Amino acid sequence: MRKKLIFLGIETSCDETAASIVQENLDGSAKVLSSIVSSQVKEHKKFGGVVPELAARSHIENIDFIISRALKDARIKLEKIDGVAATAGPGLIVCLTVGLNVGKALAGFSKKPFVAVNHLEGHALSPALSNKIKFPYLLLLISGGHTQFLIVKDVDDYKQLGTTIDDALGEAFDKTAKMLNLGYPGGPAVEKFAKQGDKNFYKLPEPIINKAGCNLSFAGLKTAVLIQSKKIKENKKLRLNLAASFQETIIKILNKKTKVAFSEFKKFSNKKNNVFVVAGGVAANQSIRKSLEELSKKNNFKPIFSDLKFCGDNAAMIAWAGIQRFKRKLLNDLNVEPKSRWPLDKSAPYMKGPGLKL
Ligand code: KG4
Ligand code: ZN
Repeated sequence: MRKKLIFLGIETSCDETAASIVQENLDGSAKVLSSIVSSQVKEHKKFGGVVPELAARSHIENIDFIISRALKDARIKLEKIDGVAATAGPGLIVCLTVGLNVGKALAGFSKKPFVAVNHLEGHALSPALSNKIKFPYLLLLISGGHTQFLIVKDVDDYKQLGTTIDDALGEAFDKTAKMLNLGYPGGPAVEKFAKQGDKNFYKLPEPIINKAGCNLSFAGLKTAVLIQSKKIKENKKLRLNLAASFQETIIKILNKKTKVAFSEFKKFSNKKNNVFVVAGGVAANQSIRKSLEELSKKNNFKPIFSDLKFCGDNAAMIAWAGIQRFKRKLLNDLNVEPKSRWPLDKSAPYMKGPGLKL
């Protein structure tokens, strides 16, 4: 007889210490029994970005309490769960080590199965925490460290269609916020300011928009924002206009590249009810959500976005990925090490660095 599966998930790859208890129901849907996320925004704010050693120290200080809270909120004891999943990469090694070691220790001590989860797979599967989705689907993963179009064929089975050749999208938002002195974290700040500005005021570059398939580039756009921001200094109105024009340019680039990804996906799957999933921290941006939703509908793709509380880093997505891997017998032993780089599609070419030909 099948039974409901319950996993503890642990996430410490960057600046969020998170733990969660997730249950998979008998019909395959997810039930998040608890999801605790402790953000270190305040600690890193004064430095304008994540300081790895500070982040690691903060994970060490908080992890026990966060896991206890997750178990308590879910009203469950460690003995009653079916397995432990912890993020093992990609990310900052000093940070990953904290959650991974605690996860391994808990699994070893309680004699539970252990799953080392790829953080990107956590994001990729996260929309299933609040929607029923069938494989395969097209995924746009937009976060602070990654920007990728992928075909999600199944758990552990990904084909990369395109990626950024320089900055990640979240990084471009964070750097723009820094240049315009809007605060940290940058994404939500740029979005807030963009609402008050004229999005057509600046004509900014749209790097490689008409070439290189679904690959993306944001470095030229970032440089253009830097040049303009130096000219306008503290002029509030122009700063708002620049934030709005930056976000509008991003939307144009994403729309164009998503259309290319749609036709690539159709070569792979010519079903009528194709699904387009958008996940990762930047997927919380309402203007991006709205424009991608409209574009999907026009192109006969059903748009599905991660629930807002599961866009940014969280451990529910790690517990869920753990359950899905456990069901496919993709378990790890307790010698597993953290990895700073860990692509979902191992056959995809590495798209950064000098000598890149587009
Ligand atoms: O997925 P995530 O929480 O962490 C990584 O795995 O990187 O993504 C964090 C990124 C940051 O760069 C943050 O500025 C961006 O997501 N972000 C946003 C918004 N909320 C978060 N970017 C644009 N608009 C937002 N509303
Ligand atoms: Zn993330």
